[in-house]
Amino acid sequence: MKLFDVYPLFDITPVKASGCYVWDSMGNKYLDLYGGHAVISIGHSHPYYVELISDQLQQIGFYSNSVQNPLQIELAEKLGEISGYDDYQLFLCNSGAEANENAIKLASFTTGRKKFISFSKSFHGRTSAAVALTDNPKIVAPVNQTSNAIILPFNDIEALKEAFEQNEIAAVLVEGIQGIGGINIPDYNFMEEIRRITKENGSLFIIDEIQSGYGRSGKFFAHQYFNVKPDIITVAKGMGNGFPVGGVLIAPEIKSWHGMLGTTFGGNHLACVASIAVLDVLKSDDLIENSAEVGDYLMDELKKMKGGFSVRGKGLMIGLEFDVHVKPIREKLLNEFKIFTGVSGAKMIRLLPPLCLSVPESDIFLNAFQKVLTDLNMLLIDRKNQT
Ligand SMILES: Cc1ncc(COP(=O)(O)O)c(C=O)c1O
Repeated sequence: MKLFDVYPLFDITPVKASGCYVWDSMGNKYLDLYGGHAVISIGHSHPYYVELISDQLQQIGFYSNSVQNPLQIELAEKLGEISGYDDYQLFLCNSGAEANENAIKLASFTTGRKKFISFSKSFHGRTSAAVALTDNPKIVAPVNQTSNAIILPFNDIEALKEAFEQNEIAAVLVEGIQGIGGINIPDYNFMEEIRRITKENGSLFIIDEIQSGYGRSGKFFAHQYFNVKPDIITVAKGMGNGFPVGGVLIAPEIKSWHGMLGTTFGGNHLACVASIAVLDVLKSDDLIENSAEVGDYLMDELKKMKGGFSVRGKGLMIGLEFDVHVKPIREKLLNEFKIFTGVSGAKMIRLLPPLCLSVPESDIFLNAFQKVLTDLNMLLIDRKNQT
């Protein structure tokens, strides 16, 4: 049997990883500023994480959600404490799309309504309701198309008010910081208006922190830069540091009933210990503070550089936007300097490193990046306006 060919692949086979580094099958060592797509939070193969998962596997790896699992309770308590949402409830699932799918379903059950608002350039995953609210027509199959999805311009308060005047809205869904859409940070007023208008209309406010959460922005959640508290928060990616796990944080006012949501694998023993290990290490190694500090350092240094690009982001979620295609820059970084980076569209390089990235490791990237821009004759290009 062949693999279903949906991914364009680099010709690299990672076989080993540690901290911010990955080794391929040829013995090459790469600095990982991509984090396997914003997934690696506490660093690759952290010894404590490996130990907890290995020990758990020796005892019990899985049983169903029909029995007691104290690890789920421990995870919920630790997540509540570190995130500042200790009065919220946790539903565990397996991926980001699944977390959003459950959040959407939950908001529809709770309000009895069908229509949802999301925003241009957003990405919320590829399951049915989540993909309908994802602003990329190429990934919406005919079966996913629905008039229940209203996609508005990002940061546009007037469009938001108009949509509420014309529709009965179940919930508004927004990313803490838009990731795939190009590291777009919501305006303060916009987030406050979403909170105000949803409350006034009996609708719910859902924030997707799947990419921007778990310390990546320099706070546990990116929306904690604002003075807003959503009704529902979705998490995945960094939550398991590579172990597939997702979660929905649910305000205390939202009531559950048996059978309302469910999953076979969600909250299994291995996913719970992986997620507990992540929270323990985030705390013990001060990784959220590190993300803020090293992120500031990287952004300050990048802003001093010449090369016709602008810099935006928070913590270790950074976008470098060019007027030209970034493919040659990324390829040189990867092939000559052995540095993984991400992209957003054709013209942005996205940095999403493990949150344990150090200043010396950042310098390795900064020096390589400067050399690549010099080699590609980009230093004379005027910088775009900084945002
Ligand atoms: C903001 C956001 N939401 C949802 C998802 C979907 O997550 P998953 O790929 O785990 O389904 C992603 C994935 O990139 C994401 O960045």
